[in-house]
Amino acid sequence: MFLVLDGRGELRSQVLRSLKRAVFDGRLPAGSKLPSTRQLAHELGVSRNTVIAAYADLCAEQLADSRMGSGTYVTGAVPPRERRRFSGSVEPQSRYAARLRTLAPISLARRDEALRLDLQYGEPMVDIGFFSHWRRALSYAALHTQPRAVAAQGLPALRREVALHLRRRRGLDCDADDVIITHGTQQAISLVARVLLDEHDVVALEDPHYQLADRALRAQGAQLQHVPVDADGLDPRALPLPGLKLLYVTPSHQFPSGRVMSAPRRLELIALAKRHGFWIFEDDYDGEFSFESRHLPALCSLDGNGRVIYAGSFTKTLLPSIRLGYVVAPATLRQDLVRAKMLADMSCSAIEQTAVSRLLCSGVYDRHLRKTSLELRRRRRALIDGLHTHCGDLLHIEDSGGGMHVIGWLPGFNDRQVDRLIATATTRGLGLHPVKPHFARPVRTPGLLLGFAALSVTQLKSATALLGACLQHVAELTSPASMVNCG
Ligand SMILES: Cc1ncc(COP(=O)(O)O)c(C=O)c1O
Repeated sequence: MFLVLDGRGELRSQVLRSLKRAVFDGRLPAGSKLPSTRQLAHELGVSRNTVIAAYADLCAEQLADSRMGSGTYVTGAVPPRERRRFSGSVEPQSRYAARLRTLAPISLARRDEALRLDLQYGEPMVDIGFFSHWRRALSYAALHTQPRAVAAQGLPALRREVALHLRRRRGLDCDADDVIITHGTQQAISLVARVLLDEHDVVALEDPHYQLADRALRAQGAQLQHVPVDADGLDPRALPLPGLKLLYVTPSHQFPSGRVMSAPRRLELIALAKRHGFWIFEDDYDGEFSFESRHLPALCSLDGNGRVIYAGSFTKTLLPSIRLGYVVAPATLRQDLVRAKMLADMSCSAIEQTAVSRLLCSGVYDRHLRKTSLELRRRRRALIDGLHTHCGDLLHIEDSGGGMHVIGWLPGFNDRQVDRLIATATTRGLGLHPVKPHFARPVRTPGLLLGFAALSVTQLKSATALLGACLQHVAELTSPASMVNCG
């Protein structure tokens, strides 16, 4: 306990005054136990008798109670003190802080626990069976991890396993030395932004786009240009060239439209990056969950010029709470990224890296991926069938060949009706989320971003039936005249 003697008068009174100060300012709240007299005497460098006497005085003033065989406790004589809080505000203390304050909110983080069924994108698919593997891997890791921190680049065993996995599943020509372990894709974006960008550097991002990438790049001071996406993915003709420094893309499964970048587009992007000297950040966030036969390898696997920075993560394949991901960076950038990682947080937790590497090398990870893939396919089917059955022509599905979400466009609705739809669904226990916040430019047709990973097939059947009923309800409430403005 932190007590200071004021040096005035006899020691007994000094100890009493310091104890009373602690009681009055709330450091010793009602009910708390005072340290033993021996311990406090040792801490303050006074005799034990002095402390015994000070405790007796405190009891005499009814500020403490001595309980036989148990110790001395603070009474409730002093009302609980309001904790001192710092209120008010300061001007942003840096340009970075100023930019942070102007960022638009992130709708992906919203979650309402009161909802019975929530079609929120980003909620994980929880496989109970996986937790026993995870628990075992963690206890193994707790026993076998070296006590010293691992290198900033990441645990060699995990880097090796990740490289092997990426070679097999994503076509990357990489080995352990090429891999950097990060705290998810989010840290990968921040490190890349720190290493590559100065304020006002031009960065291109797809439109629609991933909000967390948009916000991280804006916070860094980048000048963002959103580039439209068509059926083949991001349209390279719309890239701000020349002058582009970095392009962030999700080629395997464009977020959130779900479109897959065609092979010619990929080659065109790589050629443009070489010609104009810009970098490409490939976010392969759910590349493992493509359910189509034409599953393309990662864009990075085509890069012969060292312009693509590949990022993947265990957020979708394991759990978002694991917060581990990886970057495969061109050799020319690697040391800068490793140094930036070192300065950001030294390294990711060695115990968690050991546990994840154990899942990979034991084959548990591959089995888990197969199982998750099958279940996601079933859930996606249930969602799409349910939407066809219950929503009819009111909702058009933008079908994509994989992942954990689809977009449902509402061609007959305007924004006000969508707000009403979401409000109606909420009162009936169904969470719906508009797609609009994921667009930088105005969207003519409103739509919903429908995440399905966290709901079982049965729950998806109920959710789509409920969505159909809410759509009917709102469509009937709204007269045709008020639907003229829709997209
Ligand atoms: C587009 C996109 N990128 C990346 C991620 C994963 O980010 P992280 O690895 O930081 O959890 C997600 C997860 O929801 C995502 O939707």
